[in-house]
Amino acid sequence: MVSKRLEAIAKMIPPYHHIADVGCDHGYLIIEAIQKYDVTKAIAIDNKEGPLYASQNNIKKNNLEKYVRFSLSDGISDIDNDTEAVIIAGMDGQLIIKILSNSEKLNSIKRLIVQPNRNTYEVRKFLMENQFKIIDEDVIKDGNKFYEIILAEKGQNFTYTEDELQFGPVNLQKMSNDFKEKIKADIIHLKGLSKDILKIQEKIEKMEKILCM
Ligand SMILES: C[S@@+](CC[C@H](N)C(=O)[O-])C[C@H]1O[C@@H](n2cnc3c(N)ncnc32)[C@H](O)[C@@H]1O
Repeated sequence: MVSKRLEAIAKMIPPYHHIADVGCDHGYLIIEAIQKYDVTKAIAIDNKEGPLYASQNNIKKNNLEKYVRFSLSDGISDIDNDTEAVIIAGMDGQLIIKILSNSEKLNSIKRLIVQPNRNTYEVRKFLMENQFKIIDEDVIKDGNKFYEIILAEKGQNFTYTEDELQFGPVNLQKMSNDFKEKIKADIIHLKGLSKDILKIQEKIEKMEKILCM
């Protein structure tokens, strides 16, 4: 069964029918996109043979290979001219930025759906600096983990505040339950960290006193 995270990502594909999944790995996103969201052409891209073959196997098991071109390539370098939506999910935000900045094809993409595991601030800043406007966002709680999904399209004349870059302009508007839960979980985590920092500070002070003895 496809995860809640991949389900939420696939939901953001319509109205587009031609997609590329960069870092396709197991191929589950493409399977969901073809079966539920009327995708008629998908490029399964991975820069490693193992994951690409895994996706090929899974897509074949579902008899969907006629809709898919498999590409052992780096990032978005091998997307087609008619690729409408590009998905990059389950990677560090810095890697997503590197993949997107490495190609002139970035400007041909109509819709970008990204799900960074970390560094979402940097991803939103990159999108803003490259005129990709954030149209929708979702925070998904799956098990104990929270995932942030960002949908962006080419836009003009917009800037985001520091808060919008950090938390997401649409997240702040929507204030979904999972978003609020994520903020609560982050507060608990940061409070734990600040206690640790106080302990470290006390330890440093003790050690400095020892040196002064
Ligand atoms: C952690 S998996 C995520 C899989 C899937 N997208 C998901 O969200 O479940 C990351 C995948 O991206 C691939 N990958 C990493 N860097 C890549 C790049 N520059 N170009 C294409 N694929 C890449 C890896 O080989 C791996 O299969």
